Amino acid sequence: MTDLGPRDAPYPELKKTHTMAHAGRPWTDHKPPTSAPVWATIEGLGRYYILLAALELDVFNTLGSGGPSPIEPLAERLGVSSPHLRSLLDSLVAMELLEQVRDIYDLNDAARRYLASDGPASMAELIPVAPGPHDNWTRLADTIRQGQPAEPIEDDPVAFYTSLVEGTFTTMFRCASRADLKIRYSALDAPRILDLGAGGAPWAIAMLAANPGATAVINDLDDVIEVAKDKADEFGVISRCRFLPGDFHHIEIEPGSFDLVVLGHVCRTEGAEGAKHLIDRAFEALAPEGRLILADYFQDADRKFNPHAVLMGATMMASTRRGFTFTHGEFSAWLRAAGFAEIRMIEPIGFQQSFVAVKPRE
Ligand SMILES: C[S@@+](CC[C@H](N)C(=O)[O-])C[C@H]1O[C@@H](n2cnc3c(N)ncnc32)[C@H](O)[C@@H]1O
Repeated sequence: MTDLGPRDAPYPELKKTHTMAHAGRPWTDHKPPTSAPVWATIEGLGRYYILLAALELDVFNTLGSGGPSPIEPLAERLGVSSPHLRSLLDSLVAMELLEQVRDIYDLNDAARRYLASDGPASMAELIPVAPGPHDNWTRLADTIRQGQPAEPIEDDPVAFYTSLVEGTFTTMFRCASRADLKIRYSALDAPRILDLGAGGAPWAIAMLAANPGATAVINDLDDVIEVAKDKADEFGVISRCRFLPGDFHHIEIEPGSFDLVVLGHVCRTEGAEGAKHLIDRAFEALAPEGRLILADYFQDADRKFNPHAVLMGATMMASTRRGFTFTHGEFSAWLRAAGFAEIRMIEPIGFQQSFVAVKPRE
């Protein structure tokens, strides 16, 4: 082998550790941090409203049905100004929610799956309502000063929850259906199901659909429960449902009479005491060897490694009286204190975790 002389880095500039890019400004010791997280936050507001506008203008469905398109014919179809539409679509491309090749725009895989109304995991109905009432975000500092929002959703739950649970149904139904692989509710002999704060009842309906002998008691607030009735009808399981409207903290529940109790995304609006009360109610409602399924967004012990759960906690704080998210550790302690055993965690689809816990035989 030829002697190349003393070895050196192939890119000598990487060795210039004394330059400002490596060492910071003269007379200071550190390189200034990047402002990227600040800009990402500022842009977050615009990004959300860009997506809302695209949904409101029917951009995704129109591209879906009409196929790839340049700006002019698309603007004509949508009845909007073409320079403004170009700005909107270029932003969606920057946000990785559309594809663009030269002057032609098209749906990408994410838009096809999540943003088109007929996408297999469409979030089109969820996106406008997912952050809670938008005005509450503009008053967040006041909420933190006062310890609760001026207009919590509990003041008019029907207005908010009816559209929320329509919007979350697709995802939750997919999650509940996949959960059968872990829970095997389809293999139970005529299980009796109680779904508290059921919304559109994605859990109860998935269980009823998979198990022809199952029956369900479905609870939600007056009027919101109409969504569950419509969905149960749509899925052909309504004849095996009994609807029990009212506050889940106070409705009458026959003790020891259910094989499966579902608390699906209801604990995080109730505060620690409310969540514990719901867990106690579930325990009482279950027959021995019955199982509780408790779905929510859970924080890790340090409250920082699952940003989605942390920010969901802030979303609850912004719009509800007692809403916060809690850690896996807090929930498992509450489950044990209520008397549950064999506590485990499942994640039937990404980011959708549920505790499964068994009421032991005395
Ligand atoms: C986030 S949604 C969850 C819906 C459904 N369980 C799921 O997993 O998709 C919360 C539901 O709890 C209901 N809810 C809130 N407070 C309630 C209460 N005090 N009593 C009964 N239902 C309540 C709401 O109306 C809403 O349908």
